Amino acid sequence: GSGSSSTGSGKIERFSTSGFILAAIGSSVGLGNMWKFPYITGKYGGAAFFLMFIICLIVVGLPILLAEMAIGRSGRGNAAASLFNITGKKHWKWIGTVPVVTSFLIMCYYGVVAGWTLHYTVLSFSGSLSDVNTDFTAAFTNFAGGYAPLFWQAVVMLITGIVIAKGISGGIEKYNKILIPGFLVILLILMFRSLTLPGAGAGVEFFLAPDFSKLSRASILTALGHAFFSLSLGMGCMLTYGSYVRKEQSLGKAALAIGAGDLFYALLAGLIIFPTVFSYGLKPDQGVGLAFMALPAAFAQMPLGAFFGGLFFLLLAIAAITSCFSILEVPVAYAMGQWNWSRKKAAILVCVFSFILGVPAALSVGGVLSFISLDGKSIFDLFDFVTSYILMPVGGFIVTIFTGYAWKRAGEEAGISGFWYDTWMFILRYVAPILIILIFLYSVGIIQP
Ligand code: PHE
Repeated sequence: GSGSSSTGSGKIERFSTSGFILAAIGSSVGLGNMWKFPYITGKYGGAAFFLMFIICLIVVGLPILLAEMAIGRSGRGNAAASLFNITGKKHWKWIGTVPVVTSFLIMCYYGVVAGWTLHYTVLSFSGSLSDVNTDFTAAFTNFAGGYAPLFWQAVVMLITGIVIAKGISGGIEKYNKILIPGFLVILLILMFRSLTLPGAGAGVEFFLAPDFSKLSRASILTALGHAFFSLSLGMGCMLTYGSYVRKEQSLGKAALAIGAGDLFYALLAGLIIFPTVFSYGLKPDQGVGLAFMALPAAFAQMPLGAFFGGLFFLLLAIAAITSCFSILEVPVAYAMGQWNWSRKKAAILVCVFSFILGVPAALSVGGVLSFISLDGKSIFDLFDFVTSYILMPVGGFIVTIFTGYAWKRAGEEAGISGFWYDTWMFILRYVAPILIILIFLYSVGIIQP
């Protein structure tokens, strides 16, 4: 059967060329692009920040992306097994479990937010967000503070689990091939709508007008950290997806396509969000407020707002769920490889456990568990903080050190030589590790902006 192959002796699962590119874009394009990127760009200097982000993406992001994919394809296993297979050294297997744990922890809270987007998709299409007199801040706070998010989180886990259980070509590849093109169509419709709203120009200006005076150390480190998160690096996603790539496929071209796709979707998201918010005289809030409070207020005033608002949240939901596929595949591949579980068993158990561990996160955003706080952070914030700011940099560091120092034949697998190989190695050996340490020290507050 196609759904129950195991690693090693069983049927070998592979992506098609385009299937891999689409799945990797599905992974990289997520809530980070649709929601976080626009507001940090607005905050840190518009086009000036955007430029910084592009530089970080090219100089640090793409080399690490290439390294992760090459490790996966050469090692032909989950994150831990690949590092071991390449070197034959036991300690790399242990080091390789770090990204597996990271992805599992990310799944726990990312699934919660993905659930919110599904709930808002349904609310919006059903017309429940159409009353302009609603207090959208209170509405979101009430929702997130109740128990309904658990239901939506379970729906996300169920969808993700089913797709992962179907395997690579019949699951991950198949659904990304449907969802990612659909995503682009919705994105273009919404961009056309938002750019033709009265006063849209002010939003475009807020998003993109360059303000080089805002380029501080904080904005550069933010751009770097986001380049990392946005390309799904440092937690084994691209490595695990890479292990299903055919030998003939060019990894260099794939890295360029994935980077370009990530950038393109982030740009379009900003061109939807800010013109819409500014056109209705709302404030470009940060974080949760922007997507779940300011935007619903704008859509409520817009003609056919229930429809356009529904499309917008559907967009967020697709972005989040295609990222969930890649996040969940990391621990599932690990369980299959290390413990010899069938794909089905691994998918079910990983889903169930990440749901259970995600429950406290879901109930800590204004809910019954919000009284628990460490250093001013709720359980939800802690999941985010520990994964994005500590474990992902550690994972990225592992990849750079492994490829730069421990693996002698990386260039052959990556398909590069000469000048490009030297540049790649220079970045992996010196530039990226130093920058990663800086982001890390900055995020945990040891160096101040
Ligand atoms: N890259 C995704 C985003 O931008 C998030 C993500 C991180 C997905 C890590 C997978 C792994 O939202």
